[in-house]
Amino acid sequence: MNGPVVVVGATGHTGGLVARALAARGTPTRLAGRRPEALAPLADALGPAVVDVVRVEVDDVRSLHAAFEGAGAVVNTVGPFLRLGLPIAAAAVDRGVPYVDCTAEQAFVRRVWEALDLPAQRTGVSVLPGHGADWGLACLAVGVLSGAVGHLRRVDSYHDLGGFTPSAGTARSMLEMVGEPVVGFADGAWGDLDPRVRRVSLPTGTGILAVPFAGGDVALLPRDLPSLRHVGSHLVLSGAEAWGVSLGQRLLSAARPLLRPTWLHPVADAVAARLPEPAQPAPWSLWTRADGDATAWMLLEGDDTYAVSAELLAEIGTRLARGEAMATGVRSAAVALPAAEVLDGLAGVRARVVPEWRVGRATVSRDPCASPGAAGSGTP
Ligand SMILES: NC(=O)c1ccc[n+]([C@@H]2O[C@H](COP(=O)([O-])OP(=O)(O)OC[C@H]3O[C@@H](n4cnc5c(N)ncnc54)[C@H](OP(=O)(O)O)[C@@H]3O)[C@@H](O)[C@H]2O)c1
Repeated sequence: MNGPVVVVGATGHTGGLVARALAARGTPTRLAGRRPEALAPLADALGPAVVDVVRVEVDDVRSLHAAFEGAGAVVNTVGPFLRLGLPIAAAAVDRGVPYVDCTAEQAFVRRVWEALDLPAQRTGVSVLPGHGADWGLACLAVGVLSGAVGHLRRVDSYHDLGGFTPSAGTARSMLEMVGEPVVGFADGAWGDLDPRVRRVSLPTGTGILAVPFAGGDVALLPRDLPSLRHVGSHLVLSGAEAWGVSLGQRLLSAARPLLRPTWLHPVADAVAARLPEPAQPAPWSLWTRADGDATAWMLLEGDDTYAVSAELLAEIGTRLARGEAMATGVRSAAVALPAAEVLDGLAGVRARVVPEWRVGRATVSRDPCASPGAAGSGTP
């Protein structure tokens, strides 16, 4: 281990879960936040894995540099990321410390790439924005499947979040996101996201409705895997919801030029202040399809979206701190880490594929959809 993993925002819902997941691994951990009085009891509860506690202010670069001194990796959970995230990522890069965050804001992923890809390559560190449960897992699935389909041309992920209830922090970030343009990646180029509802057949034979949304994987994967011509990130929704979300995205994109951060920020803060933290864990599932010379699918599923985000951030942070990164610059876990091993290291995630597939430390068979009834006929 090159130094402790610094959890920035450890007093928050996700940051606290990440700190616990790091402590469960025995990873040396530094808790960072703007309220030391709230960090102290967490440190006491987590025991010897917490090696120190530091105060940081997002707008005080010196406090960030001091917090990252001697660190092995930074895990950033401070959102909304578009408002607060970039100074933290930039300070990690300045200090030469690998970085991962859980933003669900696609525009932030793009901003990190534009601002920090070259500096991170120069300092020789890996920067992995947007590696919470949703896109982080999709990137890992693509990392596993890309080795199984030959010349990779297309990937699509389908997120079913079931009865997901957003935390206050997630709600605030979601509301602020509506003011940002969203992009899709089709025919080898980024452009306006086409939010039309798709009907898709899963390898199980089940039909689903999928609505494209602003995935961070859409921003990262085409740079990491240049043979890709299409990257799709979709929400799985039931009939009325699917058409409603699709229509909502169209209306928002028309209204976007009128939306201003100066109006959105206070609205987002006011709404978030009234929300309770999610009481019930929300089951989730994620199907990922990769198309190349062959087609391959992977299913990942679990019982608690926030717990799996924390698991993923803790596992990635621990591996980055051990110096396991395989690529520098702003990257996805599809190429920056050994994807199958990372998936194997996650508690509470069931990695499953149609019966003849094997995943985890083993390989995915080359033509896993070849069995009768398993063909992914509904090309999205
Ligand atoms: N993609 C995913 O799967 C996924 C999963 C989980 C979370 N997320 C994202 O992670 C973010 C955090 O979510 P959450 O539920 O953990 O939110 P939260 O409970 O509100 O936590 C936010 C953290 O940020 C800190 N913070 C807020 N404003 C700050 C500022 N100006 N300076 C320094 N620190 C500040 C808070 O400190 P205080 O405690 O002092 O207020 C707290 O530690 C959101 O953007 C959410 O969308 C994404």
